[in-house]
Amino acid sequence: MFPSKTQKPLVEVRGLSVDMPLAGGKDGLRIVDNIDFSIAVGERVALVGESGSGKSVTARAVMRLDPVARLSGKIDFEGRDLLTLSEKEMRHYRGSSIAMVFQDPMSFLDPLMTIGDQVAETLRIRGIGRVEARKRALSVLDELGVDRAAERLGSYPHEFSGGMRQRVVLAMALVGEPKLLIADEPTTALDVRVQDQVLDLLDDVSTRRGLAVLFITHDLGVVAGFAERVMVMYSGRIVEDGDVHAVFKDPKHPYTRGLIRAVPRIDQDLEELYAIPGAPPAPMARPAGCPFNPRCSDAFDRCRAELPAVLPVTGERVACHLHDRKGA
Ligand SMILES: Nc1ncnc2c1ncn2[C@@H]1O[C@H](COP(=O)(O)OP(=O)(O)O)[C@@H](O)[C@H]1O
Ligand SMILES: [Mg+2]
Repeated sequence: MFPSKTQKPLVEVRGLSVDMPLAGGKDGLRIVDNIDFSIAVGERVALVGESGSGKSVTARAVMRLDPVARLSGKIDFEGRDLLTLSEKEMRHYRGSSIAMVFQDPMSFLDPLMTIGDQVAETLRIRGIGRVEARKRALSVLDELGVDRAAERLGSYPHEFSGGMRQRVVLAMALVGEPKLLIADEPTTALDVRVQDQVLDLLDDVSTRRGLAVLFITHDLGVVAGFAERVMVMYSGRIVEDGDVHAVFKDPKHPYTRGLIRAVPRIDQDLEELYAIPGAPPAPMARPAGCPFNPRCSDAFDRCRAELPAVLPVTGERVACHLHDRKGA
C-alpha cells in the first residue's frame, strides 16, 4: 500500500484488536481497537503517540507476549497468521523471526550472568552448540560497536554503562537474525547523545541486514531521522499513517499536528513550548465519536457522534472527519 524499498510485505496486521480481561467483567477492556498496518521487508516504521495510547500493547500483541490478552484479527508474518499458531510454534518465531527490545535494558539483563552467556543464550535455547553460540555472540557485539568485545564477554551487566547495556540487549535481540525488530522506546531512558548513537546503530544494522524495524516512541523528535514511515496512534487506534516526510510537512490529523508542534526546537524559549491541551482518555472512558474530539480545536458535531473511519488521503491513511468529503 505504501512505497517502500522492496514493497514486499513482511508483516500485515488486519483488524487487530486487543482486549484485556477486567476483574469480574466478561467483556474485558478494549485497549487496541481494530487496527490495520503492514511493514515491508527492511522497512523502518515508527509508531508514535502519547503515553497510554496502546503502542506497547500493540507491540506485545505482535509477539503474543501477554498470555491474558485476547487478540482478534490477523497478524500475517511471511504469509502465516501468527494468531493461529500454537504457543510452541510461536516460540519458534520469537527471537528468530521477530525480536523485541525494551526501554529499560537492566530489567532485561540477568545481573548474575555474563554478557557473553546472555547474548549466546538465545542460540543455546535453539540447540546451537556452546562454541558456535559464543562465536556468533562475539560477532554481533562487534557489529554493535562494543569495544574489545572478546574481553568483555566475561563481564557482568553492572560493569557496562547505560548505552553499552542497551547494545548488549540489542545484541541479544539480533543474534537470532530476526527479520523484524520491535524496539519499544529503546532510547527513552538514555541521555540525548547516547540516544543518537543507538539510533545510528539501529540505522546501520537495519540497512546492512535488510532488517525491518518497528520503532516505538512517544517522542516525535527522534522519528524524522530514522523512520521512512510513521504511524500515529491515539486511544488504541491508528489515526494517521504515511511517509515520514509527507507527515511532517503536511500532517493531516489534528492530533499529529499537535504532536509535531509539541516537539521542542533548539531556537525556542522554554516558555514557548507547546503542549496539546488535556490528556488522552483512559480506555474505560473513551468519549463518543472521535476519541480525540475533546482536545481538538477543529472538532465539529460529527466528531462528537461518529467514530471516523481510516480513509486514504493523498497517499496516506487518516482517520479524521475533516478529511472525509462525504461529511465535510
Ligand atoms: N494488562 C493490562 N490490563 C489492562 N489495561 C492495560 C494492560 N496493559 C496496558 N493497559 C492499558 O492500555 C493502555 C495502553 O497501554 P500501553 O500500550 O502500555 O501504552 P503506550 O505504550 O502507548 O504508552 C493504557 O491505558 C494502559 O493502562
Ligand atoms: Mg509503552
